[in-house]
Amino acid sequence: MKRRQFLATSGLAALGATTLGLGVASLARKAQAAPMAMTIQPARYALEGTVTEGMISLSPDAPPPVLRLRRGVEFVAEVTNQAEDYTAMHWHGLRIRNDMDGVPYLTQVPMGPGDRYRYAFTPMDAGTFWYHPHCNTMDQMARGLTGVLIVEDDEDPGFDLDLPVNLRDWRLGDDSQFIDLYTARGAARAGTFGTVMTANWAQDPIYDAPAGGLVRLRLAATDTTRVYRLHLPGAEGRVIALDGHPVIDPVGWPAPDAPLILGPGQRADLAIRMPAGEGAELALLNEQPGGPRSLLRLRATGEDLGHALDDLRPLTANALPEPDLDNAELIEFVFGWSPDDAPVNNGFCGTLGYTFWSINREAWPGDASASDPLAVLERGRTYILRLRNESPNDHPIHLHGMVFKPIASNRREVAQNWLDTAMLLEEETMDVVLVADNPGDWAFHCHVIEHQKTGLTGYLRVT
Ligand code: C2O
Ligand code: CU
Ligand code: CU
Repeated sequence: MKRRQFLATSGLAALGATTLGLGVASLARKAQAAPMAMTIQPARYALEGTVTEGMISLSPDAPPPVLRLRRGVEFVAEVTNQAEDYTAMHWHGLRIRNDMDGVPYLTQVPMGPGDRYRYAFTPMDAGTFWYHPHCNTMDQMARGLTGVLIVEDDEDPGFDLDLPVNLRDWRLGDDSQFIDLYTARGAARAGTFGTVMTANWAQDPIYDAPAGGLVRLRLAATDTTRVYRLHLPGAEGRVIALDGHPVIDPVGWPAPDAPLILGPGQRADLAIRMPAGEGAELALLNEQPGGPRSLLRLRATGEDLGHALDDLRPLTANALPEPDLDNAELIEFVFGWSPDDAPVNNGFCGTLGYTFWSINREAWPGDASASDPLAVLERGRTYILRLRNESPNDHPIHLHGMVFKPIASNRREVAQNWLDTAMLLEEETMDVVLVADNPGDWAFHCHVIEHQKTGLTGYLRVT
């Protein structure tokens, strides 16, 4: 489909003027000093001893920066595409205007090489989010383009150190150069795993933190495939936020036999009290086949600050809509294999050359194709989405533009916290509740990118 034709048929222009309720407008009190220039471009970087070529970042020789926005302050980014392929930038987890969401064909025309796109929105929620391309997603994310985005609140809870952690892997050979970024075998199963695990583009980095001080560890799982199982032996701490939003239903402190499960796309903010003794270390471990592996370490430095977790002021709640469970409508979704005759996902935004997955037995045909929404939701109403995984693999199911709260599962106790990504385990059926308060077409997909790109994608329309 041609770009013009797409614009004419999608109703994009009509959606352009919508905003997310009155909250955002009344929050917007000051503007960012100047638009932020972001250039998607080729990069090279030494993740190991040797420089890896063929990476994609926002500068030629560094990871995508941590973006720090402010709640209620308009953010403007002029994004230029200096990569070789089409792209679009998505702000994962932010509840913003639909036309700023960065999803090719649903909300914007993808940017060709040399193109520029202006994103402008006012974040209404404080917390830990992230950004990544939503076109040629497999290629560009695997090559590096995933960054942490923090929306700051005016209130400071009293941390001594705020440490964003971008967790992700890389598919590198012995020569530190990229090998195949995905495989058909992986795409049809749990995804293709990286060979090098990193935190902030470093292997098991050590960060200094004040002894006896309070650290806010902002974990973002930006890998295309890996489901992390995390814990910090010997650490005293609390899980204070999930997917950006303050925890309202307490989540246990992770342990080796009950780790914090963080699937692709998800975030967790941990409050940690550093040991008092200078030089003492805490390790963030991932439980994985072959034994636990350290992803990063915190080293206590200086004199004991003597701070306690109870000294922290609670995070300010985000203004989230209250579900009306008594009048909720149930909508069912089933995630599984694709029908045999499903077409191969295709479009300007890249194909993996296969179709394996589906939502409600339909495989997403590709970014450029016009497809019907999986469901049409009435603005302001409460819905229960019944998410049924009929496959033997895990699927982190992500919804754009809104958040939901798990309320039931056939496999486990669920903590009822606001999320944008639900970690659906194999054969699990989970009910999540949502208030359809943000108008537009919102992508709804698995965040294992190989699943997303081989059929497990769709969208919900809020009218
Ligand atoms: Cu993290 Cu559809 O995105
Ligand atoms: Cu998203
Ligand atoms: Cu999946």
